[in-house]
Amino acid sequence: MKIGMIGGGGVAQALATALLAKGHDVVIGIRTVSDAELSKDRNFSKPLKVWMQETGGKVATMAEAAAHGEIVFNVTAGAASIDALRLAGTDNLKGKVLIDVANPLNFSQGMPPFLEPHLSVTTSLGEEIQKAFPETHVVKALNTVSNAIMVNPGLIPGDHDLFIAGNSAEAKATVKALLTDNFGWTSYFDLGDIVGARASEHLLPLWVRMWMIGGNPLINIKLVNG
Ligand SMILES: NC(=O)c1ccc[n+]([C@@H]2O[C@H](COP(=O)([O-])OP(=O)(O)OC[C@H]3O[C@@H](n4cnc5c(N)ncnc54)[C@H](OP(=O)(O)O)[C@@H]3O)[C@@H](O)[C@H]2O)c1
Repeated sequence: MKIGMIGGGGVAQALATALLAKGHDVVIGIRTVSDAELSKDRNFSKPLKVWMQETGGKVATMAEAAAHGEIVFNVTAGAASIDALRLAGTDNLKGKVLIDVANPLNFSQGMPPFLEPHLSVTTSLGEEIQKAFPETHVVKALNTVSNAIMVNPGLIPGDHDLFIAGNSAEAKATVKALLTDNFGWTSYFDLGDIVGARASEHLLPLWVRMWMIGGNPLINIKLVNG
């Protein structure tokens, strides 16, 4: 399948590497494709030039990556996601499933980050993306686990849950099939329509705190019913 990544950081690289290994045709999209951009250090990930050499993967502009993808991932910094997706292009995203992995975290005051108020208090990033791109099927998923877990949930023993939200049942089924077939996810908690993104994004302050205190990013949540 042709897959586009909007964003070129650690999450894009982890997802793209795993999907390339499964035989998918993946293009990572960044704002400017230049030697300087491809060579620069990226937080918690490799320069894209090194990633390309190691995986054979392709890097293009955000618009080219969006046009390429039959399914597209939003893996940009959450506060900038809507701008990035506008660069990717409304027409290039029209009618497609967009898997929104981003969280609207603001690190300007250091750790722990806080959720951007305009993208969290009475809304969520997932909802605002769906409003801005009404003809795209936005599915919020994978945003509550670290990128190593996204592509290999088996790093945590036993069942644990992946939250998913979106307005289209068909789009959510497509995303679950992709994540199950390629990464091995088996347990989903469907939070309903895209308003459910509010719930999963609001888990981030808890997730970050558990990581800071526990010192281990290989963590997830399992719902236990009484
Ligand atoms: N790290 C994890 O394990 C993890 C887990 C769950 C969810 N997430 C979420 O996944 C997303 C990606 O995280 P990440 O660490 O891989 O990458 P990141 O550093 O948060 O974001 C990288 C991408 O954002 C783009 N970007 C930044 N500012 C922009 C702007 N003003 N306009 C357009 N694009 C802009 C950059 O484009 P250029 O390449 O052109 O600079 C870059 O490719 C984040 O929202 C994060 O909260 C991360």
